[in-house]
Amino acid sequence: MAILFNQDKKVFTLQTKNSAYQMKVIDYDVLLHLYYGRRLEDCDLSYLIQNTDRGFCGNPYEVQHDRTFSLDYFPQEYPCFGIGDYRGDCVRIINPDGSNAVDYRYRSYRIEKGKYSLEGMPAFYGEDGETLIITMEDKDTGMLLELQYGVFEEADVITRAARIINGTKGTVYVDRALSLCLDFMRADLDWIHFYGKHAMEREFERAPLTHSKQAIGSLRGTSSHQQNPFVMLCERNAGEDWGECWGVNLVYSGGFYAEAEVDQFNQARLVMGISPDNFCWQLGPGEAFQTPEAVMVYSDQGFADLSHKMHRAVFDHLIRGKWKEERRPILINNWEATYFNFTGDKLLRIAEDAKDLGIEMLVLDDGWFGNRDSDFRGLGDWQVNEKKLGSTMKELVDKVNGMGLKFGLWVEPEMISEDSQLYKEHPDWAIRIPGRPGNIGRSQLVLDFSREDVVDAVQEMIFQVLDSANIEYIKWDFNRSITNLYSGALPPERQGEVAHRYVLGLYRFLENMVQRYPDLLLEGCSGGGGRFDLGMLYYSPQIWCSDDTDAVERLKIQYGTSFGYPISSVGSHVSASPNHQTFRTTPFETRATVAMAGSFGYELDLNLLTERERSKVRRQVEEYKTYYDVIQRGDYYRLTSPYEGSRACAWSFVSRDQKECLFCAVVVKLQANPDAMIVRLKGLCPNAKYRLEGTEQVYTGSALMYGGVLLPVPGKEYESWRYYFRQIEEA
Ligand code: GLA
Repeated sequence: MAILFNQDKKVFTLQTKNSAYQMKVIDYDVLLHLYYGRRLEDCDLSYLIQNTDRGFCGNPYEVQHDRTFSLDYFPQEYPCFGIGDYRGDCVRIINPDGSNAVDYRYRSYRIEKGKYSLEGMPAFYGEDGETLIITMEDKDTGMLLELQYGVFEEADVITRAARIINGTKGTVYVDRALSLCLDFMRADLDWIHFYGKHAMEREFERAPLTHSKQAIGSLRGTSSHQQNPFVMLCERNAGEDWGECWGVNLVYSGGFYAEAEVDQFNQARLVMGISPDNFCWQLGPGEAFQTPEAVMVYSDQGFADLSHKMHRAVFDHLIRGKWKEERRPILINNWEATYFNFTGDKLLRIAEDAKDLGIEMLVLDDGWFGNRDSDFRGLGDWQVNEKKLGSTMKELVDKVNGMGLKFGLWVEPEMISEDSQLYKEHPDWAIRIPGRPGNIGRSQLVLDFSREDVVDAVQEMIFQVLDSANIEYIKWDFNRSITNLYSGALPPERQGEVAHRYVLGLYRFLENMVQRYPDLLLEGCSGGGGRFDLGMLYYSPQIWCSDDTDAVERLKIQYGTSFGYPISSVGSHVSASPNHQTFRTTPFETRATVAMAGSFGYELDLNLLTERERSKVRRQVEEYKTYYDVIQRGDYYRLTSPYEGSRACAWSFVSRDQKECLFCAVVVKLQANPDAMIVRLKGLCPNAKYRLEGTEQVYTGSALMYGGVLLPVPGKEYESWRYYFRQIEEA
């Protein structure tokens, strides 16, 4: 049993293999949060709460003159707005009388086998999970709340969500409905988040928590390039291999909010959920609002262990479908090869080379439909441009299949260009505030996916294309931020619902797609990694990590991404040099070294490769196939940080049985008369012996881990190495 309830003490303890999470119902049915940390056996940590008269911290009316009972001091499970806890809150309700306080108190609980699911929304799944539902009520108004917990004991993760139910007789507005609050009875914590911009996503940033609100989020309608919903808290001295740390993420692809603070009594609080800005949800009597799910993971052994737990949980309990386990095809994408300037013949020439080099799938990117010869027009017209292709889609795909390659296609279903047939017919389908010209981004508008009819119509067009040919992969893109949010289909008092209804519309489409085409491999994308989140990973097992394909910049992007997301989710390609985004020149092998730390492919004109480069591609493709399992399913170790001035950026993949290790390093700083570059490996079996493939050299695991690997003196800028160690049997 992972969920324990001590009836006498009214203590809930959620236990995973290495962590525990504790809540307690105290007097007046207030639900406290007591603990999230190392695993605890049966206990009640409420003795840590010091009841003393606290100035300017009010008390609930029923405690009368007991000034020690204050919600402004207690660590709380789901803090409510307007009732005397002035820290970051989870829920705000505008009641029928216009007041905006809600006071949720404990009513009952139930425990269920299996993990709960959320209708219409992505969520972790698993028969081996357990569910706890705690029902709360506001006794004055009748508002109800269900706190939902999913516990995966083996995977060491806990999920949370909340369902707000209007138990009043009138209409209420949910003005804020977050998914998670974590209170700590300590303040000595750092917070780590991943910021960025287009073409430089998920940069690592760490700062101490202070007596102020530190907040990140996105108002862009997507999780965004600028901030990622995965955040961590950790002890001040925590690092890759030591220290307590907590990682939380939202299973959501729309706007989000995360806020951390230290309160007046030196206690820390983290809250997270759907962005409360631009959010206000109308609930009639009996209606409910379901928040997205948040996932939490804890480790007392530093960031590497935390990442491993998160990676495994995401892989085992969130990613679905055929391509979760099956080896995904190595692809060639024509975007950086041709941009919009291609013909069917050119694509076939690329496909021929791809086949010859061992590549397994041709992905036709933007520009195959309508009048889409540039990014100024054509979005929304999902009809094949047969003139440009010189054939129907089926004829093209059949030819590619005939060569022995799979075929994949790019789409951007949520968008519309003003210069399109669809816009001529349905200008009202674009998100726009009446009477305002609004904003354009990449010269395009966003379709109102909060409207069912719009989603249905676009879905029909896309499914028609999918039905017309043997398309085995879809890259689902989203290339601007949403602004001027407004839906013509909703009355003024419901405009606060548009942002979330949009995301629900997107999820409905994606779910229909994965149900109808169970063999289809989906790759998420939003101008690269602008929607790199757990919500999308529920539908698409991989996401194009960044539009920046420069191998050296990717070192940072992929380093940051690896904290919260498994390597298998990272779409990563070898592109041309000089790189198209940074104009940097890098060795061909280095581009492969970096791209192999993900779901691998190529994105350059294969027709232009030299014979030497072609033989390199052949070897790289074979190598990636050989090491696929250890890369995709092994534990990933960040061996040096690209932020700390190391001369080499290094990482490794270690199979879960510790029998195989692929070590990779890229030199980022050259030196005259160079110091020795030694990188210590991690996660090997200390007493086992490992042979370096291609040589007769044998090392003990302890030598490689405690002594290290000595890198050669680099002979050129950005040189890289890939060393494969395999355990050998004792003689
Ligand atoms: C976005 C994607 C690119 C490419 C282009 C096509 O920028 O991230 O990979 O698909 O759109 O327009």
